[in-house]
Amino acid sequence: MAEDFKVTPWEVTGDIDYGVLMKRFGTSPVDKTVLDRIARYGDIHFMLRRGIFYSHRDLIPLLDSYDKGDRFWLYTGRGPSGNTHLGHIMPWIFNKWVQDTFHVRMLFQMTDDEKFLFKDLTLHDTRSMAYENALDFAALGFDPDSTKILVDTENIGTLYPLALQVAKKVTFSTAKDVFGFEGSSNIGKIFFTALESAPAFLPSVIEGRPTPVLIPAGIDQDPHFRVTRDVAPGLGFPKPSLLYCKMCPSLSGGDKMSSSDPMATIYTTDTPKQVKKKVGRAFTGGCVSVDEQREKGGNPDVCAVFKYNFYLFEHDDAKLEEMARRCRNGEVLCGECKVALTQKINVFLEAHQAKREEAKEIVAKMAYGGFKW
Ligand code: TRP
Repeated sequence: MAEDFKVTPWEVTGDIDYGVLMKRFGTSPVDKTVLDRIARYGDIHFMLRRGIFYSHRDLIPLLDSYDKGDRFWLYTGRGPSGNTHLGHIMPWIFNKWVQDTFHVRMLFQMTDDEKFLFKDLTLHDTRSMAYENALDFAALGFDPDSTKILVDTENIGTLYPLALQVAKKVTFSTAKDVFGFEGSSNIGKIFFTALESAPAFLPSVIEGRPTPVLIPAGIDQDPHFRVTRDVAPGLGFPKPSLLYCKMCPSLSGGDKMSSSDPMATIYTTDTPKQVKKKVGRAFTGGCVSVDEQREKGGNPDVCAVFKYNFYLFEHDDAKLEEMARRCRNGEVLCGECKVALTQKINVFLEAHQAKREEAKEIVAKMAYGGFKW
């Protein structure tokens, strides 16, 4: 059944119907009007064009105030629970485009506390993953002069006064309703949403005036930001605007790339050999025999290899369409598409891994308040 799926910040199950999810959460579609508006500022990013960043809250008022000279801040984040994979990088690539297009300052929150509370990890584990993940973030080329990384356990002195103000406005009943906590949930989880709200208000504190904030994020984070937006007016802060993306699919054909299935997940540190092996095993939905495939064609709609081109690796719409057409006509076989995707991923990773090595100095510079990694 189309309604039979679940999306929370900590759990995604079932086949996600993104239209239904948008209705459930009450967010707005990124439709033609919104796209035309964004086109005023530069070339529309392919993730907007293709409906990957597909839903928003209050994007238009944010752009209205930008036009009046009120520059917003960008805010996004990462819960450091393991190695960075392509699903994590996807929204960061988009964030970088927003930073370049609008010339705005950015906060990147690393919620090591969250992953400690929600997963079977030590604080030492989550803290060292934060560093590893930060290298991947910085490798994408964010402007080191206008980008700051917050690590919750390091920057708690900055975040705590804001988190407290949020916490005082959120009842236990709300936390239970929004996140599904139960009597057995540890009390850290119940407080955590206050920490994820804090960076949305930090720009107002830094600038000393109400400052607009745009949060590009996976739509699974919306429950947090509903809370953030609800409490904002009572605290004298502007409600942050949101721009939400779909989850990056798994190589197995599932809706979300996840470290619970490492063979269906490409990590930024994977070797060319590992990539080849993983892409080789990817789900394509193709026919069993070559003859059958030539005759009946394949189905790009269900094919993970096609989805990787769609979400990340083929930026040219005409080429993407041609790829789909040739697949449907049986002109190209799954094996050929896999070889081509493997090559694209390996070209990307080779460059990324080199930049990741050089990112050590950059992350030192980006550390909020100059904490030592
Ligand atoms: N909770 C997010 C995660 O698990 C991390 C995060 C913190 C975040 N602040 C954010 C994500 C803001 C998007 C936007 O990955």
